[in-house]
Formats: sequence, C-alpha cells, structure tokens
Amino acid sequence: MTQLDIIQPNNPTLRKRARPVTRFDDSVQELIDNMIETMRAASGVGLAAPQVNQSLRLAVIETPPDFDQEGQEIEDSRELFVIINPEITWKSRKMVDGIEGCLSIPGYVGEVSRHEAVRVQALDRRGKKLNLRLKDWTARIFQHEIDHLNGVLYIDRLTDPENFWTEEAFQKQFADDDEEQPIVIEAD
Ligand code: NI
Repeated sequence: MTQLDIIQPNNPTLRKRARPVTRFDDSVQELIDNMIETMRAASGVGLAAPQVNQSLRLAVIETPPDFDQEGQEIEDSRELFVIINPEITWKSRKMVDGIEGCLSIPGYVGEVSRHEAVRVQALDRRGKKLNLRLKDWTARIFQHEIDHLNGVLYIDRLTDPENFWTEEAFQKQFADDDEEQPIVIEAD
C-alpha cells in the first residue's frame, strides 16, 4: 500500500463536486486501500477522495476508539466505513456545535454546527447497499466527509468567522479557561 499526498485548498479539486463511482475494479480497490493507509498514517478519522486529488464520490471513515476505565484503548473498538456515492437521506432537526479540523487545512480548527444525527445511504467497496444510522461524533464525521464530495470545507460552515483558530491558539485559549475543554476532532 502507498501513502497518498493530501492536497490543500489551493488545489481546485478540493472545491469541485466529485463524480459518482461507477466501477468497483482493482484500481478503485487500490485507491480505497491507499486512502485507509493515508488516513491512519495522518491519525485522521476520515478522508475523502478529493483530498487525495481524485474527484470521486468516495470516502473512508474510522471512528475514534473507546477507552476502558484505566484510559486504555479498547482493542477493535474503532469502526471502519468505506462509503461510495453516499446520500444523506434524513437529518435530525437538532443541531450541535463542535470543534473540527481537516487534514487539508493542517494546523487549524474551527467550530461548526452539524445535525446531531443523520441517516446515510451509500455503497460499500463491493457495491453493496448500506443504510447507516449515525449520531454524535460519527454523524459529524460523515457530514464533514460528504461535504468534501461537494467541494465544501468546514471553514465554509463556521458558527462565526471568529470561531477559527490555530490549533496552538485553541489549546492555549481553552487551557487558560476554567471551562472543560471541548473535544478536538481531527475530522480528517
Ligand atoms: Ni476534511
């Protein structure tokens, strides 16, 4: 497997609406494997094909692990999804604010409002239909990745233009604060 280069917003592929996947051949399987490898190497929880300069409606997502009472990562508690040609078929009315980052915008985070829960219809890597019900952080990651397939970045959806920070400034700001620090999600 090969690690792929992740592009940044100066590359127009990131801003294009990606094309549907119509074949599930070896080249697509290889792209999927390389995207999983690239996401894991970058400690991301999601990666969309346009981020590796492939304008295709395809993303890989791996949920963060669960931890036991001692704070140890529970083995096999991460869940891996490969979603192809995904559609959001239902969105909760309830919205939640959360902090997101993006591997295509390294070093920054911002606050984004997302639907608390969504249902997504997609194909898996073999072309089999998936119907997924997602909530909380997993729903957030799916919304972030599906946005990538439409050329949308989280910086387009900030709760306020001021709610965008360098990771360093964000950590400092909330370390000085008495409030509990919000979870930073490396959305991809
Ligand atoms: Ni992203």
